[in-house]
Amino acid sequence: MNVLKLENVQQVFEAGTENEHQALKNINLTLAPGEFVTIIGGNGAGKSTLLSTIAGLMTPTSGTVELLEKNLRHYSPLEKAQKISRVFQDPKLGSAANLSIEENLTLASLRGSGKKLTKALKKENQKIFQEQVARLNLDLESRLKMKMGLLSGGQRQALTLLMATIKAPELLLLDEHTAALDPKTAKVVMELTCQLIAEKQLTAFMVTHNIKDAIQYGNRLLMLNQGEVILDLDESSKKALTPKEVMDLFSEKAGQDLGDQQILSA
Ligand SMILES: Nc1ncnc2c1ncn2[C@@H]1O[C@H](COP(=O)(O)OP(=O)(O)O)[C@@H](O)[C@H]1O
Ligand SMILES: [Mg+2]
Repeated sequence: MNVLKLENVQQVFEAGTENEHQALKNINLTLAPGEFVTIIGGNGAGKSTLLSTIAGLMTPTSGTVELLEKNLRHYSPLEKAQKISRVFQDPKLGSAANLSIEENLTLASLRGSGKKLTKALKKENQKIFQEQVARLNLDLESRLKMKMGLLSGGQRQALTLLMATIKAPELLLLDEHTAALDPKTAKVVMELTCQLIAEKQLTAFMVTHNIKDAIQYGNRLLMLNQGEVILDLDESSKKALTPKEVMDLFSEKAGQDLGDQQILSA
């Protein structure tokens, strides 16, 4: 059973106009349960478009996306929300600023159930949330009534990650989710990401511009360039490489120098 299968997926923006742009060219990709794939590539390579297509937010111009061996087009928005979680670069995008930590967590635990927030805030949930927030080591477990908007970017992103995984999704999509954080906080959120993925045995995609992270984390590495997968490495192949070797491989495969683009940091 595949979790995900992309066949000849193309994504063309503004087709037929002078601004026509083919963001995804011919993507073929299969993901087995529990695979944790890191994705690197330059600015405009199509990484976010790929995640949006996989999330079912964009229908491919041609080709098919299957989630759990069923065409993604046949899932309702509610089903897609149940099965796919996404975390963005901007910590503000994953939670509601005017709601408290516990209200946000409650909403996340109701995701896809169709139930409303007011009917769901139960006493017993508070204890569970306290335990889950305590493991973040952010000293927030006694402040669950605090508004999300008052937290730092790192705190908020760690909670967003907790929210994205509180009901284990079939697919977790991380789009440069540590890029806006300072290096120390980025590392904390990265470690938490790995723990949650391992513990809940999630299948995940993580876009990152940090080559070290792309090598260190996950068990497969994809390199995307101008809408095409130019390299697909398994765990042992990628772990044997240094960041410099990955950059050199990119230049070799893409026929251009990554250094010029200054989009990846080693
Ligand atoms: N909605 C859109 N309309 C037109 N062009 C788009 C749209 N979204 C993305 N693009 C273009 O598609 C290309 C890939 O974008 P994106 O997937 O965001 O790249 P990445 O995430 O790798 O930086 C870019 O050239 C971008 O300008
Ligand atoms: Mg992007």
